[in-house]
Amino acid sequence: MFYLTTAIDYTNGAPHIGHAYEKVLADVIIRYRRLRGEEAYFLTGVDQHGQKVQQTADKEGVHPATFVKRTTKQFLNLWEKLGVHYDGWAETTDARHKACVQAILSELQQRGQLYKKAHSGYYSVRQEQFLQERDRDEHGNFGPQWGEVTMIEEENWYFRLSEHTAWLKSVIEHNPELITPAFRRAELLNALDRSAGTDLCISRPKERLRWGIELPFDANFVTYVWFDALINYISFAGYHAAADAGLPDFARLWNVGGSRCTHLIGKDILVPAHGIYWLCMLHAMGFTEAQLPRLLVHGFWNSKGGDKLSKSTGNIVDPNELADKFGVDAVRYYLVRDIVTGKDSDFDLERLIMLFNTELANELGNLCNRALNMSQRFTAGILRHGAPLTPDEQALQASLADSSAAYQAAMDECDIARGLEAISRHVVYCNGYAERMKPWELNKDPVNQDRLASVLYHLAESVAHAAVLLSPVLPDAAAKLAAQLNLPDLTTLKLADLHWGLLPDGHLIGKPKPVFPRIVLEEPAAS
Ligand code: MSP
Repeated sequence: MFYLTTAIDYTNGAPHIGHAYEKVLADVIIRYRRLRGEEAYFLTGVDQHGQKVQQTADKEGVHPATFVKRTTKQFLNLWEKLGVHYDGWAETTDARHKACVQAILSELQQRGQLYKKAHSGYYSVRQEQFLQERDRDEHGNFGPQWGEVTMIEEENWYFRLSEHTAWLKSVIEHNPELITPAFRRAELLNALDRSAGTDLCISRPKERLRWGIELPFDANFVTYVWFDALINYISFAGYHAAADAGLPDFARLWNVGGSRCTHLIGKDILVPAHGIYWLCMLHAMGFTEAQLPRLLVHGFWNSKGGDKLSKSTGNIVDPNELADKFGVDAVRYYLVRDIVTGKDSDFDLERLIMLFNTELANELGNLCNRALNMSQRFTAGILRHGAPLTPDEQALQASLADSSAAYQAAMDECDIARGLEAISRHVVYCNGYAERMKPWELNKDPVNQDRLASVLYHLAESVAHAAVLLSPVLPDAAAKLAAQLNLPDLTTLKLADLHWGLLPDGHLIGKPKPVFPRIVLEEPAAS
């Protein structure tokens, strides 16, 4: 079983393009795995507790529960709009999740992994954490990233993180596949060295934070939001759940006789949350080295010029607006086409339009139009394998084989941009082939009937393969193409079925309808 999770999104505000990217990327990866014939499960959701939610709700004068219900709906609506199809939905206010977090806390407490102590120090409200001396900048100040910083003294509960970091370091050194891309592994190993000897504060006193999961053994405290949120990956996978809880079978989902669970996360939450806290928490719960998840770390979409996309700078990109204006296909395509998984990219509306218009509307649209339209006009929609192959057809088939192999190699590594480039290469090749073969000329003389059939067949068969390969990224568009070609339901087709001859001799295709209308802007794109 391929079990994929994403980060669960904070619900103290509306979803932005970074959230959309991660969920679309996860959706593409899951659909691709299914296309490969694997059984796959996708969990995503929302992070509903914590100080930021409490503060925002207080400011609006509503109860945090009412507030998160509203913001959660925005995420649910967006995933529906963008065609992000998940199998499990994680909300941290869910009673089943709370019960799991509390059971884990009790177990850790009984095993002596938790202790209570008084601590005084500087606390960042924005980051919801105590600060260390090393968090000061070169002028000795706590920088703006920490927001308001206040000195507080309080008792809290701590997790003996320091007992696990040496083990974790050696595990990460010996299992390079645990962290992708590789350069993030080096970053994590450095961070592990720096954090050695420090334990993790896992509680917040109720007088400071009410909105959280109460500690089962000390009612004066709620659980630190990260400790709570990270557990979603197992609580919603059925860990410690009753058989009738409506959750999956944990043993089946979590790394039993199969691949490790994959957590897809952004680069900002590798260190310390996932790379250190979470892996050490799992170890303390009794998970072995072989049962650790794999962390797939993606980069950030920034605003043009490399600035962070943030509400405070007013350059936030609203994925809802984009989808309304340019269509879901254009947004999904751009989000995975113009960024290399693991690296950052600048969000650029002009490139969104250019990539859609060039690669989809012009190249693929043109190929579909030629293949389907000319087959309808010249051969009554019936495809014939036609004349014996000439070197031109052999070369076209070789181009498809090369592109398909490159696609699969890239997609296996979650490099969607390279996978899409591979499809585009073959599409461009086919348009060149059509221009050289000139089926519209061949049609003028009945003597060329067999040649004409062969050329049209090669174009239509290429469209069929392109539709299947594109389906993880553009499921709706691919389904429309498949319907026009009279292909079977795309969800039943697997990569292994993609041999030459998908469309049988004598196959009847349907009526062509444009699937990728060009984006035409009334006013110049402002980005
Ligand atoms: N709630 C925590 C995660 C808890 S996981 C147990 C959180 N939420 S978040 O809403 O701030 O971020 C959710 C995901 O979106 C993270 O993986 C984060 O890296 C990602 N992104 C946030 N901004 C982004 C971009 N500008 N670009 C790409 N991804 C970005 O962190």
